[in-house]
Amino acid sequence: MTAGIQSVGAYIPVRRVSNEELSKTVETSDEWIRSHTGIGNRHIASDEETCSYMATEAAKEALSKADMDKDEIDHIIVATITPDFKDFPATANLVQNNLGIGNIGSFDVKAACTGFAYGLELGRGLILGGTAKNVIVIGAEKLSAITNWKDRSTAVLFGDGAGAVVMTPRVDGEGLIDSILRTDGSGSDALYMPSGGTATPYIPGVTPEEDLYLNMDGRRVYNFAVKVNVDIVMELMERNGLTPDDVDYIVPHQANYRIILAASKRSGIPLDKYYLNMEEFANTSSASIPLALAEMDRKGLLKRGMKILTVGFGGGLTYGGNYIVW
Ligand SMILES: CC(C)(COP(=O)(O)OP(=O)(O)OC[C@H]1O[C@@H](n2cnc3c(N)ncnc32)[C@H](O)[C@@H]1OP(=O)(O)O)[C@@H](O)C(=O)NCCC(=O)NCCS
Repeated sequence: MTAGIQSVGAYIPVRRVSNEELSKTVETSDEWIRSHTGIGNRHIASDEETCSYMATEAAKEALSKADMDKDEIDHIIVATITPDFKDFPATANLVQNNLGIGNIGSFDVKAACTGFAYGLELGRGLILGGTAKNVIVIGAEKLSAITNWKDRSTAVLFGDGAGAVVMTPRVDGEGLIDSILRTDGSGSDALYMPSGGTATPYIPGVTPEEDLYLNMDGRRVYNFAVKVNVDIVMELMERNGLTPDDVDYIVPHQANYRIILAASKRSGIPLDKYYLNMEEFANTSSASIPLALAEMDRKGLLKRGMKILTVGFGGGLTYGGNYIVW
């Protein structure tokens, strides 16, 4: 038995903010953002569109596409670094309640932009281990809440949203075949939230305001991202006996067009194998891969039997990917 993705759903916040609109409040321009990142817009959640709300809506769409009753689900995993509550309860616990499912298992995964790749593998583990039959895996982020809107070097990069999949057992040997999940903790200060944890609690009047938001060393993250993009894709192909011709799509974390372009050049894998949608949604961290899958599904691009690689990278520094036979 294997475990695979039965269906995909998404939730995108109603408010769409273009580069032009952003450049009215931050010193930047559409030209700079597009040429440095490939981003044209982002969707920003309202107060009502909490992380758990977006996650629930994405899960509802995935459930309805799977033509499955909510009571058939016996586990929920939410990958997020922007949970409703900083420490607990987990956002997955809130989603379980929102969906009105009985007392099933649910927990959050905190692996930043690699969170969805981790979540998928954990979902597979629960199914293959016999702990669960059907699992919802969600990537959901409200990054606008941890973005320093005064810092142009990060404010232009991020957006909000959620994507969800229903994972079910497969008897045809297809589905999620392989995953690579890694961390380089020596880079944990390259992209992080300096304050608010137990090591550096927020102290009013003492903690600098910028420490309450996401901090990033852009160059360091860029170099890391290009390298691990290539490494993960090459290793997934090698481990599974694939050539670039065998792969139908690479669905990367949608951080920056230039990262993907550089990875494509370095690996020799044609750019048109990569599915890209950061132009519309910007970087939505753990939501970006399932959001891309949901968009591909809506466009009718995903067919059973297709060979798909995902590749994620981000804070931690985490990185990894999945090999899926759709
Ligand atoms: C953030 C990133 C786009 C910056 O691009 P870059 O080419 O490295 O740009 P630099 O940081 O060297 O800045 C170049 C100039 O642009 C300016 N700049 C930075 N952000 C700007 C913005 N939004 N608008 C206009 N100018 C900006 C800088 O102030 C700097 O100006 P200076 O030369 O006068 O000092 C790039 O480093 C990157 O993509 N890093 C990876 C980020 C990422 O994807 N993180 C998430 C991973 S999950």
